Amino acid sequence: MTTKPQDRVLIFDTTLRDGEQSPGATMTHAEKLEIASLLDEMGVDIIEAGFPIASEGDFKAVSEIARQSQNAVICGLARAQLPDIDRCWEAVKHAKRPRIHTFIGTSPLHRAIPNLTMDEMADRIHETVSHARNLCDNVQWSPMDATRTEWDYLKRVVEIAIKAGATTINIPDTVGYTAPRESADLIRRLIEDVPGADEIVFATHCHNDLGMATANSLAAVEAGARQIECTINGLGERAGNTALEEVVMAMRVRNDIMPYETRIDSTKIMNISRRVAAVSGFAVQFNKAIVGKNAFAHESGIHQDGMLKNAETFEIMRPEDVGLAATNLVMGKHSGRAALRSKLEDLGYELGDNQLKDVFVRFKELADRKKEIYEEDLIALMRTATDPE
Ligand code: KIV
Ligand code: ZN
Repeated sequence: MTTKPQDRVLIFDTTLRDGEQSPGATMTHAEKLEIASLLDEMGVDIIEAGFPIASEGDFKAVSEIARQSQNAVICGLARAQLPDIDRCWEAVKHAKRPRIHTFIGTSPLHRAIPNLTMDEMADRIHETVSHARNLCDNVQWSPMDATRTEWDYLKRVVEIAIKAGATTINIPDTVGYTAPRESADLIRRLIEDVPGADEIVFATHCHNDLGMATANSLAAVEAGARQIECTINGLGERAGNTALEEVVMAMRVRNDIMPYETRIDSTKIMNISRRVAAVSGFAVQFNKAIVGKNAFAHESGIHQDGMLKNAETFEIMRPEDVGLAATNLVMGKHSGRAALRSKLEDLGYELGDNQLKDVFVRFKELADRKKEIYEEDLIALMRTATDPE
């Protein structure tokens, strides 16, 4: 089946910009280049490589990522100030397909910081987006804290940015405040009400403060957004950003109700997740969706028995689809006889029913003392079973 262009959702990864802004997640130059190349290989459409005005290091990283990337659009972030935008362009211009992403906080709380009136801010938006567009034909504009911006003002500034030449309008839920229905309504109303909206791409950029970033991003897509901004492992400030692996796999596994496609090679997910965890120093929680250690692991007897008979009993995705070799049947005190037999067979032991019964009793005794039973423990158990000396 071929994908209609309107069913394609662009994946914009900001692990190297918003992700790296998590306190303590700073990556070295070499690490950033490595992650960028993994993102490019996995099929990310746009890589936000950094914030070039923020530091010499960021400028250098964005410039080199722009030079090395083969497929993805390379984007840099810039505040709504002309020197920021110029610096950003200097860094991204080396890319085959560069993008400038410029933003300003439009909600009442954010407007108070530069102390601009609504009209002054509107003029600033026109000036900075036009300036960016004169440098680069791919310009993204974001009204930061869009979800807490007054509707009339949001509509007004989005229209100004489109008229000034923005090709993507990103709607950030900067503080993770919105909820799925509201996220969808906002995108739908902008598409319906803003002149020129049908000429550009709407993006959704969600933070996870209330644990709703994935749901809010998918709701925005259902309402017409065609770019999701996300990070590997959901890395990002405070409770993080939308997790790339979650939105990609949700649209794949539930394509029956979310018929959207991405270019992501999902078999590369596990590797990049592990690399991002290693270089950022942010370990992935065990029960994290898709990439957690336990996402494809089963310990209880009923689950293990079900998995041995038919993996679909307790798994909605195949581990291979996200780059894992196999489901992990963890041996512990909740495991049953079927899993023990299967594990022992994998280790080369063929047991009769009586022998299995005996080993199972001793396995349970051991499992009561030890949290997890490893292969070495099973081999030791079998040695004492066959050779009581
Ligand atoms: O969360 C946010 O508002 C941002 C913007 C800079 C897009 O990261
Ligand atoms: Zn953000």
